[in-house]
Amino acid sequence: MATTGTQRHGDANVTKAAALLRRGGLVAFPTETVYGLGALATDGRAVARIFAAKGRPSFNPLIVHVPDLAAAERLAVFDPLARRLAAAFWPGPLTLVLPLKEGHGLSPLVTAGLDTVALRVPAAPLARALLAEVGGPLAAPSANPSGRISATRAAHVRAGLGDAVDMVLDGGPCPVGLESTILRSAPLALLREGGLAAETIEAVTGPLPRDVTPGRVQAPGQMSSHYAPSLPMRLDVTAPDPEALLIGFGPVAGDLSLSPEGDLVAAAAALFDTLHRADAEARARGASRIDVAPIPETGLGRAINDRLRRAAAPR
Ligand code: TXA
Ligand code: MG
Repeated sequence: MATTGTQRHGDANVTKAAALLRRGGLVAFPTETVYGLGALATDGRAVARIFAAKGRPSFNPLIVHVPDLAAAERLAVFDPLARRLAAAFWPGPLTLVLPLKEGHGLSPLVTAGLDTVALRVPAAPLARALLAEVGGPLAAPSANPSGRISATRAAHVRAGLGDAVDMVLDGGPCPVGLESTILRSAPLALLREGGLAAETIEAVTGPLPRDVTPGRVQAPGQMSSHYAPSLPMRLDVTAPDPEALLIGFGPVAGDLSLSPEGDLVAAAAALFDTLHRADAEARARGASRIDVAPIPETGLGRAINDRLRRAAAPR
């Protein structure tokens, strides 16, 4: 399939992207969290291309993106709590893991043979326009090579996946910058910290049990090493070291900073782009490591620290 360039958004590009998807193509598109690598979720060959493009293990299931709750209810069984969560947080950075509904029509590759499916209604205008025009569910993992830093800009997608993608819809930088928070509704559990802070969800659900056991394929970042730059990383560093490039936060200035003001929302939005830049800059100046300042473990800080710990994990 012909490869097209990175496309600035506009109706013509959405139409073109939707046509490519309906023919089994792979289109990267922006969501408010990170860029997704999309394929029609009912087309097994197209979904197989996602795994190939990312080098992703096929036992790791994909998130399915739908335009609204009605479309979600055609694929999965919603209990009252799931419906309340959807009403409170969709569209937005929340993914719900729910029992598959009979006659769902999804390729079994999408769910990796599980009897549940992870569903999301994204809020980003370009993602919504694309879903409306495609008219079917889109399977879309983050648009990065498996295990590497996620993409929050079209240029990250191009650099990471190159010609394996048929088209990249460019919606500019992703405003949230962290993958969606993943919840299972029955039994209720937080499977992945993400762009919707757990405290915000707990205002609706009450205390959330966490089920983030590494090594079990049911949560993201189940692999302990993930989101990894090419250089090793060290966390909770407060003083510069000539061997390393330092990513600062708040009072720790660093060579780059996630947020000089110490704002966690800004730090989340900047996280993956800063990791991409730090990796390139550290290599350019001959540093052998990336150090990161401490980030508080509250609100989005927990999701940021989750990503950083996996980025720094032994590989
Ligand atoms: O914000 C996001 O969630 C982005 C955008 C593109 O939507 N997507 C994303 O996808 O982060 P990905 O594939 O990088 O992470 C999805 C995670 C995977 O780690 C997978 O294990 C988990 O969701 N997942 C998918 N289906 C599941 C299921 N049925 N049960 C439990 N976990 C599931
Ligand atoms: Mg990912």
